[in-house]
Amino acid sequence: MTEILPPDEAGLARAAALLRSGALVAFGTETVYGLGADATDATAVASIFAAKGRPHFNPLICHYPTAAAAFAQVEADARASLLAERLWPGPLTLVLPRQPDCPVALLAGAGLETLAVRVPAHPVALALLRAVGRPIAAPSANRSGQVSPTTVAHVLAGLEGRIAAVLDCGPCPVGVESTVLDLTGPHPFLLRPGGATLETIEGLIGPVGRGIPHAVAEAARGLRSPGLMVSHYAPSLPVRIGASDVAADETLLAFGRPLAGAGAVYSLSDRADLTEAAARLFDGLRSLDAEGARRGLRRIAVMPIPDQGLGLAINDRLARAAAPRG
Ligand code: TXA
Ligand code: MG
Repeated sequence: MTEILPPDEAGLARAAALLRSGALVAFGTETVYGLGADATDATAVASIFAAKGRPHFNPLICHYPTAAAAFAQVEADARASLLAERLWPGPLTLVLPRQPDCPVALLAGAGLETLAVRVPAHPVALALLRAVGRPIAAPSANRSGQVSPTTVAHVLAGLEGRIAAVLDCGPCPVGVESTVLDLTGPHPFLLRPGGATLETIEGLIGPVGRGIPHAVAEAARGLRSPGLMVSHYAPSLPVRIGASDVAADETLLAFGRPLAGAGAVYSLSDRADLTEAAARLFDGLRSLDAEGARRGLRRIAVMPIPDQGLGLAINDRLARAAAPRG
C-alpha cells in the first residue's frame, strides 16, 4: 500500500521519517514529481532503480533545500555560483565535481566523479528537504519508459504499491523536467533542455554548447558523459565477468558465496540479494581496483549475476566496465 500524505505538518513529518528510514517517497517539485530516497543511503538509492524498473543505472539528481547545502557537497565555481544565485530555487540542474568527502552514495551518481544537484522551487518540496536534512536523490517518479508524472494520480498509476508514500504537492506548475547543465569542463554544456531556458542561462554565463557533436567532442576529451560512451565508468584493472573460478592474482567481486582462491574479495551480497548488490556495486569496483593496485593483482573477476530485476542494471554496468578500452 502506498500512503498518500497531505502537504501539512503531519504529512511532511511522516514523509521525512520514511525517507530517513530508507523508504521511497514521491514528492512534487515545480517541474515533475520525483521519486525520492535518502541519497546517502546506497540501499535506498538502489531501491529507486528497482521501483522504476530501470534496466541500467542512470545518474540521479540530488535535491537540496539551499545552494549552500548543495555546494557543501560539490565543487561550485563562479559560473555555478552565479547561476545558483539567479536561478535557484528553480528548474535548473547543475552537474559539478563531487567534493572529496561528499556523503552521497556512489550509486546515486552511477559511479561518476560528478553529481547533478538542484534546489527545486516548490514550497512543499523545500519544506520536505529541510525536514529530512539529507540530500534527496530523485529521478522522475514514473516507471522506466513512461512519461514523467505531474500529478499524484500519475505517480500512483505507475508506482502504486511499489513505494512507501507520495506527498501530495498538487499539480506541477512547470510540467517539464529541469534543464541539465554540465559545468565540469571549461565550456558549459547543455545535457537536457528543460524548465530554465538556454537564453536565460547564456545571458548569465555566456555561450553553452549543445548537440551531439559537442557532446562527443567532450567525451573524447575525457569528460564522462553517461550513455554516450560504452565504458563510462571503468576501473583501471581489467574486468572479467561471468567468472566461475578465480586465480590468486585476481581480485573477486562476489555475488552469493564467494569462490575460493582470490587474492582479494569484495562481497556484493552474501545472500545473493540484488538490491544489496546494486547498492554496493560501485563501491565494490572501486575498492577492488584500489586493493588490487596496492597488492599487484592483475584483474577483477566478477561472479555471474542473474539477468533479472536489478540484475539487468548491474550487468549493464559490469559489461561497460569489462568493455575493451578505447
Ligand atoms: O525536473 C527534474 O529534473 C526532475 C525532478 C524530480 O527534479 N528529475 C528528473 O530526474 O528529471 P531524471 O533522473 O529523470 O533525469 C536526470 C537527468 C538524466 O538525463 C541524467 O542522465 C542527468 O540528469 N544526470 C544526472 N546526473 C548526471 C551526471 N553526473 N552527469 C551527467 N548527467 C547527469
Ligand atoms: Mg525521467
